[in-house]
Amino acid sequence: MFDIGIITASDRGSRGEREDISGKTVATMLAGLGQVKYYVVVPDEKEALSGEIVHMADHLRLDLILTTGGTGLGPRDVTPEATLAVVDREVPGIPEAMRAKSLEKTSRAMLSRAVAGIRGRTLIINLPGSPKGVRECLEVVLPALEHGLAILKGETGECGEA
Ligand code: MTE
Repeated sequence: MFDIGIITASDRGSRGEREDISGKTVATMLAGLGQVKYYVVVPDEKEALSGEIVHMADHLRLDLILTTGGTGLGPRDVTPEATLAVVDREVPGIPEAMRAKSLEKTSRAMLSRAVAGIRGRTLIINLPGSPKGVRECLEVVLPALEHGLAILKGETGECGEA
């Protein structure tokens, strides 16, 4: 079981003006993978988002951080930039797979600039902000997550397909 953190990027959510269905959707979908140890709603501000990622990776030493929201084209959408500012290495296959699969459902999938990367032993993945986007993207990633996290933690080097 892995230790998981969830960051919802939302100006309105951070002011308590909108219920965070997307963050809850992430938590529900990841119930079989591990425990949610930290959950926070922050405004769409690059420094705030980067700061939370660093806190969860370096101090809480979580295995996995999921962000939701702030990946689009809006002037305040800065989650990918906040993530790229603090990761050591990108994992491009994850957002590539999310967009490729999602495009079969909606052409708007191309409007998410989500990224994924590694900081230390923590994997960080951006998801879109809508509950539907969260569901569709996590469904794509989930089957490979356990194996990826085990490799990241040094628990296995064995990549033979089960
Ligand atoms: N991906 C999937 N699978 N399903 C969706 O409904 N919504 C798209 C896209 N990715 C969507 C999706 C839309 S409409 C937008 S604007 C972008 O994600 C960015 O969303 P965000 O700014 O809330 O992160």
